[in-house]
Amino acid sequence: MKDRALVIGASGGIGAALSRALETGGAEVTRLSRAMDGLDLTDPALVEQVMQGLCGPFDTVLIASGILAPKGAGPEKSLAQISADNMAQVMAVNAIGPALVLKNLPRLLPKDGRCVVGVLTARVGSIGDNRLGGWYSYRAAKAAANQIVRTAAIEIARKRKEAIVVSLHPGTVETTFTDGYPGHQKVAPSAAAANLLEVLDQLSPAQTGGFFDWAGKPVPW
Ligand SMILES: NC(=O)c1ccc[n+]([C@@H]2O[C@H](COP(=O)([O-])OP(=O)(O)OC[C@H]3O[C@@H](n4cnc5c(N)ncnc54)[C@H](OP(=O)(O)O)[C@@H]3O)[C@@H](O)[C@H]2O)c1
Repeated sequence: MKDRALVIGASGGIGAALSRALETGGAEVTRLSRAMDGLDLTDPALVEQVMQGLCGPFDTVLIASGILAPKGAGPEKSLAQISADNMAQVMAVNAIGPALVLKNLPRLLPKDGRCVVGVLTARVGSIGDNRLGGWYSYRAAKAAANQIVRTAAIEIARKRKEAIVVSLHPGTVETTFTDGYPGHQKVAPSAAAANLLEVLDQLSPAQTGGFFDWAGKPVPW
């Protein structure tokens, strides 16, 4: 039987590339996004309705949605730039949205056998690795998402011994997300997708709850 994959944020640069790569690898891919399906992760009732409408089981679930800052704003460079509204929006998309998706996974993952759930967070969500400062909302939201992923991994492992639920850092990838950072060295979305799928392929259930970069190296919390 074909592997079944669910990609949330499939309209994004990395989400689209992941969907294509999974399909090329022979999986049947269910793509969901705000642009294509109106799935706005900041609307909890809508997320619940869409997730309840899905029929599992999915062997692979990837959450590839996220924002650096609300439209029209940029990530904070200093404490003085913190805005409660902007911070709440970044939290809603990057941390609470993925949590609402994860909430539905116990029903959508296979009861037996290997399955993988990868949530794209970011290395800048690492507290231990924070040397540059700035980007308060994005860093905090991704750190919160990492904690939510870790906690979900523990709960899911109680009933699904072969489930692998992890946070992933995709590297710096050429998407609209990084448009504002032209000087940086970036990889193509297709390369990022290939890297992430290779990492997920290599992980074992003993590594569930971890945080890994595009090369499969653990990232400090
Ligand atoms: N690109 C990088 O260098 C980089 C580095 C580290 C981490 N990441 C992480 O990787 C993930 C994907 O990034 P990307 O580079 O592919 O970015 P992207 O091309 O800008 O795609 C972002 C995705 O997030 C979705 N999204 C934004 N707001 C949403 C909302 N309110 N509800 C539902 N979906 C929403 C977008 O949906 P619509 O387009 O449908 O609105 C789109 O599918 C993000 O979590 C990002 O933090 C990226």
